[in-house]
Amino acid sequence: MRKNIVAGNWKMNKNLQEGVAFAKDLEAALAGKTLKCDVVIGTPFIHLASVASSTKLGVAAQNCANKVSGAYTGEVSAAMIASTGAKYVILGHSERRTYYGETDALLKEKVVLALANGLTPIFCIGETKDEREKNIHFDVVKRQTVDALFNLSAEDFSKIVIAYEPVWAIGTGLTATSAQAQEMHAFIRETIADKYGKEVANNTSILYGGSANGGNAKELFACPDIDGGLIGGASLEVEKFIPVIEGF
Ligand code: PGA
Repeated sequence: MRKNIVAGNWKMNKNLQEGVAFAKDLEAALAGKTLKCDVVIGTPFIHLASVASSTKLGVAAQNCANKVSGAYTGEVSAAMIASTGAKYVILGHSERRTYYGETDALLKEKVVLALANGLTPIFCIGETKDEREKNIHFDVVKRQTVDALFNLSAEDFSKIVIAYEPVWAIGTGLTATSAQAQEMHAFIRETIADKYGKEVANNTSILYGGSANGGNAKELFACPDIDGGLIGGASLEVEKFIPVIEGF
């Protein structure tokens, strides 16, 4: 059966010392609790090794290169990420797509390299406000899924975690309603089932992201096709992140 996952995405926040302290504090705060989900923290590249060695919680990078190695100044490969002990990599985040021009074709290459290095991609998809208003949100999400992921074998696809993040809800305080999120998650699962069959689709964890927090996590996570969250703002403080984790 699919896993429940709550993953934090720090984006470009926290210096190294703050990051390591956060990981230790979070682990200590969760120690006595019975968790109904896996917990992951998505850190900047330079934190990965230190954070991964100071916690048993899952650790995610927020990006990786679309090349194996070589003369690509400033890039960080999937193999380098894996060598830090991080097990996950967030790919296709809307901020990468919007500010750094990442396309479905580029992301397809990154996903293949992440998988080849044993990393679990947390692959982000989601429509903009304009696309939802034009009523093309299902088409957009389907295109992002098909174009970047449907080249994979069923075996490889089974290793992917999807994060549905409507762009209009990210960092805006505007959360999709649980009905809107559930509707899209069910559509994504159906799209996966059409390509890979029901078993693969039922085993795929699909997370919701976009202003999820301790106040709305319970309702979102209660939806049958929502298997957790990718959390930005509310993952930056231990006291705010724990109520999200406890949404399960
Ligand atoms: P937010 O970010 O929770 O701050 O909206 C979510 C994300 O970008 O993954």
